[in-house]
Amino acid sequence: MTFDQSHDDSAGDPALQNKLHVAVIMDGNGRWATNRGWPRLVGHRKGAERVRELVDACPDIGIRYLTLYAFSTENWKRSTEEVLGLMSLFARYIRREAGRMKREGVRMRIIGDRKRLDPKLQTLFDNVEAETAQNDRVHLTVAINYGGRDEIARAVRAAARDVAAGKLDPDSVTDASFARYLDTRDLPDPDLVVRTSGETRVSNYLLWQAAYSEYVFTQVLWPDFTPQTMADILHEYGLRERRFGGVK
Ligand code: FPP
Repeated sequence: MTFDQSHDDSAGDPALQNKLHVAVIMDGNGRWATNRGWPRLVGHRKGAERVRELVDACPDIGIRYLTLYAFSTENWKRSTEEVLGLMSLFARYIRREAGRMKREGVRMRIIGDRKRLDPKLQTLFDNVEAETAQNDRVHLTVAINYGGRDEIARAVRAAARDVAAGKLDPDSVTDASFARYLDTRDLPDPDLVVRTSGETRVSNYLLWQAAYSEYVFTQVLWPDFTPQTMADILHEYGLRERRFGGVK
């Protein structure tokens, strides 16, 4: 795959050498389909194709960690047809892509509270995580039944259990040690959070982890989002200065 010349040369662009962690709120699937008079699920299916393309392109555009918001704790409010359709899309994606991910060096993780999901889907998640656990070229993390507040509440419960069991001294807890109770314990914080479709909300995504992340909001609907769209966004991101609250 080739990209526009101005972003093609990762050797000359320090932002692209950094092996970024980019998190994406993939929004606009429903509108993309509705605009064409099609059922919403068609938009989600197209969105899944975009996921596949983007994962493939990650090494070329400098992304080491890609974390995608696929189903929020609030998404259960959607119609049963849409919820079930999304769940079977996740299952199909994993069944179809597991072999290729394994070969291509993609490590897949699922974050979120999986206990509420179909046990078969949970098994699929456990298996793909185990099968790709040795990979390190691209880290694909998919958030399913995920909410930032829910994740923090689950982490607090786990830490409280450790305190009760005498395994954790409450006075020793720091932000870094608490972060080990989060679903993202093995991942760096995102450098950049991208939200598609013109919405400018955080929507309960990676609330703890994105404390110092850059945000980019684009009008592009997720089913129209290509690797080139991401390369353009990274170019914009590369021009920004990150000061982490300090002064340069
Ligand atoms: C938000 O758009 C999108 C979702 C809730 C689902 C995202 C899921 C996919 C892209 C499917 C494939 C994912 C993987 C990882 C295989 P929306 O439906 O809220 O759009 P709208 O705001 O236009 O209605």
